[in-house]
This record gives sequence, structure tokens and C-alpha cells, in this order.
Amino acid sequence: MSNFFISYNKADRSWAEWIAWVLEENEHSVVIQAWDFRPGRNFVIETQNASINSEHTIAVLSPDYLAAMFTQPEWAEAFSGDPTGNMRKLLPVRVRECKPAGLLAPIEYVDLFDLSEQEAESTLLTALLDRAKPSNRPTFPGGAVPPRVFAGRVPFPNSDIQSPQPHRFSPNPPHADPMFGYSVIKTVYTGGYGRVMKCLRHDGSVCIVKATDSQEVSIEALSRLTDLPVTNIAKPLRIWSVGDYVYEELPYVAGIRLSDMIFSGHGGLQGALLESFAVSTKRSLAGLHAQGIVHRDIHPDNVYAVFRSTNDKQDEGWTYDAFGSFDRDFNPTTPFEIAWVIVDCTFVTLDQDIQAKAYYHGRFTPPEQVFGHAEAASDMYALGATMFYAALGRYIPSYTEPSSCPFKRDDYVQPPYLQDYIERLLSRSPATRPKAVDEIKYTTAAVCYTGLLRAPHDNIVICSTSEIQCELVPISYARTHTKDYYLSDKWRSLVS
Ligand SMILES: Nc1ncnc2c1ncn2[C@@H]1O[C@H](COP(=O)(O)OP(=O)(O)O)[C@@H](O)[C@H]1O
Ligand SMILES: [Mg+2]
Repeated sequence: MSNFFISYNKADRSWAEWIAWVLEENEHSVVIQAWDFRPGRNFVIETQNASINSEHTIAVLSPDYLAAMFTQPEWAEAFSGDPTGNMRKLLPVRVRECKPAGLLAPIEYVDLFDLSEQEAESTLLTALLDRAKPSNRPTFPGGAVPPRVFAGRVPFPNSDIQSPQPHRFSPNPPHADPMFGYSVIKTVYTGGYGRVMKCLRHDGSVCIVKATDSQEVSIEALSRLTDLPVTNIAKPLRIWSVGDYVYEELPYVAGIRLSDMIFSGHGGLQGALLESFAVSTKRSLAGLHAQGIVHRDIHPDNVYAVFRSTNDKQDEGWTYDAFGSFDRDFNPTTPFEIAWVIVDCTFVTLDQDIQAKAYYHGRFTPPEQVFGHAEAASDMYALGATMFYAALGRYIPSYTEPSSCPFKRDDYVQPPYLQDYIERLLSRSPATRPKAVDEIKYTTAAVCYTGLLRAPHDNIVICSTSEIQCELVPISYARTHTKDYYLSDKWRSLVS
């Protein structure tokens, strides 16, 4: 028995496949003609079987579907099993403007057209939540301790305030629900200190809710993060605590984990991609460090590459970060198509916090942090270890090894100055490591290394005096801003 059978007209095959993909991604089983019906089998019989053997049939409604409806047996099959609609056997989904008539007319449908992909996905998933039952056992109302809310911009779904709620929403009073009313789609990850859940907010949009053992969390540092204007960091939008756990609502980051982009033993993140990673991560870290916050947990599992949405590329240029927030510091003409996002800020601490416990993540943790003294420079070491892993596909040697140079004779990092930079980041003495806050101030100089970037031809690469920061700018921009850059002879002739 599968969860869903998708009934569609061939004109809407791309919609049907998209719906099937989203459902399977969210742990539902799906039968769809395009993927599951093999050539040479009897189409009508397969269709009827699929419909009978599925809990629900999703009808992909369009003018084509309705025109062909009476020749198709599957909707009738779905309908006849549940004439009152109680079991929600038939779930009509409109993908184009059309008017369901006859037997289909009284059944409620949802519309997926004229929405962004993310909106369509959450509309679809919300429509499938067939009951108001929350995914977690509600806290016993008699002895419930109301959650303590530390920070956040999302309006509190308080029963006193009576905000409009979808009728399928949890009937439990929100104060008795440790999940604060978010409905869990699935648990993404369960770790030693807690768990990460993909959830729906009240408005049906997707987010992450992360629950962590409160012993491990500095509420003060984490709360400071919520209002920081730092880009490309999955900072908590709201923080609350119930019992022994601290909960965070986080933006959902749909991307590729850096560790999954790396070929073990080979690495592969080199050239302009490595540069873009270094520049972007440093910019985010500089934002944290300027406020006395240390991330403490930079490593290849906690960095994601995400595609900027196409909207960001239009007239206004690249002024938005991975979450669509306006990115003030970002050079509006930088045409990198990916943004690097730091996730997992749960273990942030304040650099003056002398009581902070030691926090450790293998080779990515510098010696001083192992002993409990994390400071801004500790994140720079972790950045160096992450860049090393990204470029070469292996971990840096332990800091207990006698040699302080992490590289072997045949190691090759492109461009070569990044190899030197990594070595300086990995200095065992925090005071001598490059600082994110210093470097991002200077944007001058020129170097040419375009590597794997998808960049228009009229772009050049500029680099900072420290030869660390690289950005691509259109030649026209460099022309009007030449005074801001030192240009090598090669590029000077191009722009003058
Ligand atoms: N904001 C997010 N968006 C999407 N996936 C996330 C997000 N936060 C965490 N995850 C997923 O959960 C995994 C573990 O989350 P993380 O916050 O790194 O937990 P831990 O502190 O246990 O390392 C991540 O590797 C990622 O797959
Ligand atoms: Mg993590």
C-alpha cells in the first residue's frame, strides 16, 4: 500500500513529477505513471490497481485533465471508495486555472500555480496534514511549565492574541506544547545533545526546529545572535526553552553540505570556489567576531553551499544573502552564483566568557579551545582546518604533532597564496592568526583567477592587499572605482 497515487494528464506531467518528488522527499510513498508504470503493461489495469492500493489519490487538475476526465477511470475509483470525502481519498490539486464540475465540484482543492516553488511546496505539504493532531505527545497540561521565550521576531501563537490559524492547526493550547505549535514533518537528525526537525510554521512555510540540551547552550550568546545583521548565517529566528531543552527556530537551508561536496582523499574545492568560500565565511565570521561572539563549531558539516535564487540576480544585482535578506556589505556586482551558509550556531559563546566549557570537534578545534578558551581566533583556526579539508580531502594533522606545517611536500592548493593563508590560520598561537575583522576592511589589488566560476566574460577578479579577499566585478564597475583598487598592469590596461 502506498500513501499517494498521482493521477494526471500527460500535459501536466512535469507538475505530477514535481509533486511526486516533493512527497517522496518528505517520506511519503508515491506511485506515479511516469516512474512506476513500465511499457507493455495494461495501462488501465495498472491505474486502477494503483488507485485502489493507495491511501490517497492526488488528482492534478487542469483544463486538459478535466476534458479527459470521463475517459479516465482513476478519479472515479478514488471517489467511489469515499463518497463523503471523510477519508480524503481524493485530493484535488489545481496546477492551472480550471473549474472542476460534476462529482468533483464539492471537493475542496488547493492551488499550486502562481506561487513560488517554496510556497507551492508548503501549500502541498500543509494540505496533506489531514488532522489537527500534533506530531509530538503534548506536555501534560496540569503541570506544564510555559516556555520561556528568549528572542524572536515571529509572532507568538498565543491563544490570548487570537492570531488567525489554519483550521488544521494543533488544538492544544500553545503553552502546553514544547514544539510551540510547529508541526514536525520529519526528524532530520538526532545527535548527542538533541535533535533537528524539519517543520511547518503556522503559515505553512518550512523551517527547522532544533532542540538542544540546555546544559550545552549559552542562552546569552545565542540570543545576541538573533538580532545581528550578519549575512549567510542560519541564525535562530526565535529561541525558547522547555524543561531541559533549548529550542531554536531556524531558517531552512536547502543546499549541499560542504563535506558532501568533497571527495575524500582528494578534496576538490580549489581555485575561485575555495576563494569564494573563504571570503564569504570570513565576512560572516567578521560579523560575529565584531560583536564578541565566537561560533566554536566551524567544520565541513556545518557549512552549506546554496544557490542564490534567480530573483537575486536581476536588476538589483547580488544584494541579497542566501535567505533573501538585504546584504549591506555585499558588493552588489559580485556574480557568485552560490552563497556559503554557516549553520549550527547552537554552540556560540561570548569571547569573554571565562566560564565557557570546553567544546570540541576533532581536528577542527584549536588547542586553546580544547582547554576551554575559545576566542575569535579559534574560529579562524577552524576555518583553516575546513579549507584544508575542502582543498585536499583530509584532516589537518593533530596540533600535538611536532611540525607546525600541515602540508606535505606534494600538496597543492590553488591559488598558492591560499595555501600560505591556510598555514597562517592554523598557527598554534591564536595571536598570530589572521583576523576576519581586519581583512574585510581592505578591498584593493588585482589578481586573475576565475577557476570554476560561472562568470560573464566582462568580469575581472579583484583581490585585497592581503591577497586574500577576491571578488569578481564587471570591468565597467572597476573603471568607475579604480581608485578603490590596486590593479596589476594586466588589468589596468583592460579598464583604462
Ligand atoms: N537550518 C537548517 N536547514 C537545513 N538543515 C539543517 C539546518 N540545521 C541543521 N540541519 C540538518 O541537521 C544536521 C545537524 O544539525 P546541526 O545543527 O549541525 O546539529 P549538531 O549540533 O548536532 O551538529 C545538519 O547537518 C543538517 O543536515
Ligand atoms: Mg553540526
